[in-house]
Amino acid sequence: MSAAPPRKPRPDVIRDDVRAMRAYAVPDSTGLIKLDAMENPFPLPAELARELGERLSRVALNRYPPADPARFKRRLAEAAGLAPGKALMLGNGSDELIHLMIQACARQDAPGGTVVLAPTPTFVMYEVFARLDGCRFVGVPLTADFGLDGAAMRQAIAQHRPALVFIAYPNNPTGNCFARAELEAILDQAPGLVVIDEAYLPFAQDTWMPQLAERPSLVVLRTLSKLGLAGLRLGYACADPAWIGEFDKLRPPYNVGVLPLAAADFLLDHFQVLQQQAAVIRAERARLLSALRALTGVAPFDSAANFILFRVGEPDRLFAGLCGRGILVKNVSGSHPLLAGCLRVTVGTPQENDAFLQALGALS
Ligand SMILES: Cc1ncc(COP(=O)(O)O)c(C=O)c1O
Repeated sequence: MSAAPPRKPRPDVIRDDVRAMRAYAVPDSTGLIKLDAMENPFPLPAELARELGERLSRVALNRYPPADPARFKRRLAEAAGLAPGKALMLGNGSDELIHLMIQACARQDAPGGTVVLAPTPTFVMYEVFARLDGCRFVGVPLTADFGLDGAAMRQAIAQHRPALVFIAYPNNPTGNCFARAELEAILDQAPGLVVIDEAYLPFAQDTWMPQLAERPSLVVLRTLSKLGLAGLRLGYACADPAWIGEFDKLRPPYNVGVLPLAAADFLLDHFQVLQQQAAVIRAERARLLSALRALTGVAPFDSAANFILFRVGEPDRLFAGLCGRGILVKNVSGSHPLLAGCLRVTVGTPQENDAFLQALGALS
């Protein structure tokens, strides 16, 4: 007698909203000049990479990471300029920390749902995680020149009483830093936490870290990704120890592996190498911006980050044309009405930027 075929589980064991979602798409960049994901284009210098390899070879892979890598966190806090009396928490990229903070605030019992608010367009994961955690996401459109609409923000905060406000500073994908006075007003008014996401700090060199001392509702979020360590997946959130203590309860044990911890610990001793790379990227950003301004039919926006948003007449044709010439940028033109016609290019090496400019010039 043949065995009964294995019973298939019902597809609806998976939540309807999850089944309706699409996974975060990372395009295949094989063989392309990769200018789509705001990575630092420079590898570690060979000698440093060799030393790092030696250091990593001594890491005990058979052991879990320490429950609290206190010594590393102290060193990172010092490098980051964390105010005395404030605390720092590590995440598997700042993505994980965004998710943990939202999870910690997402009340099941809030009438109409817990509100997560952000000016839009902005970094998509604030909305993705908010929705996944059953929160209501309120996006407040920026002005046409990508500034904060102060009146609309005040009105939305008063109306929706958000548990969390996310501000990317500089903003992704627009590249600008919002006016500090507008953010001070949000910090004065918001009834919950205000997360200022400084992912692009190495290129903006403008921080809210000192304000932690006098702003109990402020969380400063950072990452090592844009500084040249995107593959490590290491982000950190800085805030009052009471908030960090709550978020920490939701952190999966051992969320940061021994290799990223050891690599970051080693690289803290060589931070100036990464800072010098960021300085080259800032100089290249200025060169790229003026070259883009000189192209007809291309309207770039100022940037304090390591990418530049630019508007063109035919974004889909240009995006495909750039791909055809071996260059991958990000087509954001369909993602928000304010971004109509826009592509985003990450600042690459001087050679990569030249190749991009040459291809764009030939196409536009
Ligand atoms: C504003 C902003 N925050 C956070 C992140 C995520 O960074 P991480 O690599 O630390 O998860 C990004 C990535 O592009 C970003 O643009």
